[in-house]
Amino acid sequence: MLEIRDLHASVEGREILRGIDLSVRAGEVHAIMGPNGSGKSTLASVLAGNERFEVTRGEATFLGRNIFEMSIEERARAGLFLGFQYPVEIPGVTMANFMKFAVNEKRKYQGLDPLPAGDFLRMMRERAAIVELDQKMTSRAVNEGFSGGEKKKNEIFQMAMLEPLLALLDETDSGLDIDALRVVATGVTRLRTPQNATVVITHYQRLLDYIVPDYVHVLYNGRIIHTGDRSLALRLEEQGYDRLIAEQA
Ligand SMILES: Nc1ncnc2c1ncn2[C@@H]1O[C@H](COP(=O)(O)OP(=O)(O)OP(=O)(O)O)[C@@H](O)[C@H]1O
Ligand SMILES: [Mg+2]
Repeated sequence: MLEIRDLHASVEGREILRGIDLSVRAGEVHAIMGPNGSGKSTLASVLAGNERFEVTRGEATFLGRNIFEMSIEERARAGLFLGFQYPVEIPGVTMANFMKFAVNEKRKYQGLDPLPAGDFLRMMRERAAIVELDQKMTSRAVNEGFSGGEKKKNEIFQMAMLEPLLALLDETDSGLDIDALRVVATGVTRLRTPQNATVVITHYQRLLDYIVPDYVHVLYNGRIIHTGDRSLALRLEEQGYDRLIAEQA
């Protein structure tokens, strides 16, 4: 469903992504690991349509459509979900209203009527339970004053509500406590179906104990230098990136 070929992207004239190739099919879970500054978040930002980044070469398609020709809303409606390392706050808009809008936008795109209020509330309750999100949070403004862990739960809650075909999650490199780690992991695992796919960017081998990716990719200096299975993450934990990088050089 996601095909990335020779993707190059720059920010302020500096090339950050230097030829990314990645194929994600339905039913798969991919993990992207790599040292700080290797371009992981940049890849997520480029796919999300962040205008600070300029795509200079290569292509990316989602369900056969050129991602870069789709607006950010179109990407979301087509089933792409992007979780952010640093989620935005939306003061004055409650989580419940935000989600109602997002869910109904998606339904409209699918040719469905808006969800009746009762059904929506039931859905929110059910999905909040998946990520152990306190119901009370849904009446607060989106991410405003949320702790790091709460933002993370909220992100997976949004994912549970929107049922994306492809979720791309950029996990923060610090501050995810054991609880948040577990929430992300169990959320992703419970939401997994043969029809959807997840790409999770993480520094934590431990996260992959719960999520169990089909593929682990190592991003270094703007390129995927190595792809393996789960055992690659274990090896990286033991040996660090240096050896792998030296081997590829
Ligand atoms: N807006 C920007 N302006 C200038 N440089 C940027 C910008 N965004 C990213 N970069 C640079 O691009 C490189 C890759 O950054 P990126 O955030 O993609 O790394 P990362 O792999 O996600 O790292 P981490 O593991 O620390 O999250 C870094 O050198 C960073 O400084
Ligand atoms: Mg990052």
